[in-house]
Amino acid sequence: MTACLLNVLFCSEGGPSWSVPTGRRDGTVSIKQEALDQIPAPTMNFTELLQSFQNKSLNLADLVWLSGAHTIGIAHCNSFSERLYNFTGRGGPGDADPSLDPAYAANLRRTKCPTPTDNTTIVEMDPGSFRTFDASYYRGVLKRRGLFQSDAALITDAAARADILSVVNGPPEFFFQVFAGSMVKLGAIEVKTGSEGEIRKHCAVVNKH
Ligand SMILES: *[C@@H]1O[C@H](CO)[C@@H](O)[C@H](O)[C@H]1NC(C)=O
Ligand SMILES: *[C@@H]1O[C@H](CO)[C@@H](O)[C@H](O)[C@H]1NC(C)=O
Ligand SMILES: *[C@@H]1O[C@H](CO)[C@@H](O)[C@H](O)[C@H]1NC(C)=O
Ligand SMILES: *[C@@H]1O[C@H](CO)[C@@H](O)[C@H](O)[C@H]1NC(C)=O
Repeated sequence: MTACLLNVLFCSEGGPSWSVPTGRRDGTVSIKQEALDQIPAPTMNFTELLQSFQNKSLNLADLVWLSGAHTIGIAHCNSFSERLYNFTGRGGPGDADPSLDPAYAANLRRTKCPTPTDNTTIVEMDPGSFRTFDASYYRGVLKRRGLFQSDAALITDAAARADILSVVNGPPEFFFQVFAGSMVKLGAIEVKTGSEGEIRKHCAVVNKH
């Protein structure tokens, strides 16, 4: 999680962005989805995910709440197609990730991602609700329908699973509150690392010196 990635998080230029409530005085902050997808790698297991968050002074609950940003996420087929076609390296539709709901995997292969290398077709991470900032991403994860291994990993840990259940069973405001709290912590990291590194003028490009 570099200073740049964290900058990109708060960068609204280029590509779609959404406003979410935060504890900041201006009340909103925009998120670039691709940046969240890189924090951390989508192939990480739970141990690695937690380590990468703890490395940035974020905790297990922050991992669960910030993963909730996938409620508005989209992904290209090729970013998760090894979970559909080539999980162990044997290849073929029978080589799907067993942690992914088999019926959902079959549906994705048939209707969305018939070609593993497809880098243009977009798949909603929270089907039916990907424009709405809500808890339905977590319901999908509980049904083993998260697109990435890092989504599936969240229910391999008892504490993380309990946090997910607290969002799913709580009022919508609960998710907004905890998400906003973790975003504020993330924002504080940005300030710290930003002063050490450089604040990029354009999100995706290193400043010219
Ligand atoms: C997580 O991944 C790391 C690195 O590949 C591996 O060493 C570790 O055993 C994995 N942990 C679990 C619980 O699978
Ligand atoms: C966490 O930090 C340690 C020490 O700097 C580093 O070796 C490790 O690769 C980091 N792990 C992750 C997942 O970022
Ligand atoms: C499947 O994975 C293996 C091992 O990573 C790789 O050698 C092979 O090229 C992959 N097959 C396809 C069709 O991507
Ligand atoms: C998508 O795949 C095509 C064909 O393999 C390749 O030419 C192109 O560079 C890829 N685009 C991106 C953005 O990776």
